[in-house]
Amino acid sequence: MIYYPLEKLKQMGVDSVLLVSGRGHAGHFLELLGGGAEMGVKLFYEVQEEAGGIAQALALAEDFVGDDKFVVMLGDNVFEDDLSSAAAAFEASGDDAHIFLKTVENPQSYGVPKFEGERIVEIQEKPKNPPSPYAVTGCYFYSAGVFEVIRQIKPSSRGELEISDVNDHYVKAGKMGHTVLGKFWGDCGESIDGMMTVATYVQTHFQ
Ligand code: G1P
Repeated sequence: MIYYPLEKLKQMGVDSVLLVSGRGHAGHFLELLGGGAEMGVKLFYEVQEEAGGIAQALALAEDFVGDDKFVVMLGDNVFEDDLSSAAAAFEASGDDAHIFLKTVENPQSYGVPKFEGERIVEIQEKPKNPPSPYAVTGCYFYSAGVFEVIRQIKPSSRGELEISDVNDHYVKAGKMGHTVLGKFWGDCGESIDGMMTVATYVQTHFQ
């Protein structure tokens, strides 16, 4: 599973990756991937000691990122679209954040954007009544200011620092861009059925 997000990052021109994982899995990733030479990327590691949310995991990357714009990619997400032109456009833009949307049958399982016309006005995390048919997928572009934003957000009702709250901040600040994906996207962590859908798609469509 982890090879797909790493390949996607490489396709975007990323050559240096900080892999953040929970304590129980860190050793498995290190054993499988080592320093990244076989994958053609330079890998670094951080351990998230508790399940405190994606934004908490991202906070661990502050020193690694420095002042650069950068990509966050969830290790259980599989993207078919090539995201590299969006990455180049983000680098050249004045935006501080960029998200990728995909229409799904079960938006209530994901972060969901609310639209007014063409404009996103809010990001809701796993809403009971989704305001649109889109999932916010697990690839995010940010500028280094995101670490200050994370310091300002509060844990959600599930006790996590939500990446959707970070994204909502940028939406409300008018600094969020978005792209709607045209090809396959899957989240292996959503459910067993979701993982099977991804595995079947990968088996039949990817080389
Ligand atoms: C996470 C995010 C959610 C996003 C999803 C994409 O969900 O919280 O906003 O849509 O990843 O894979 P989680 O894995 O925490 O259920």
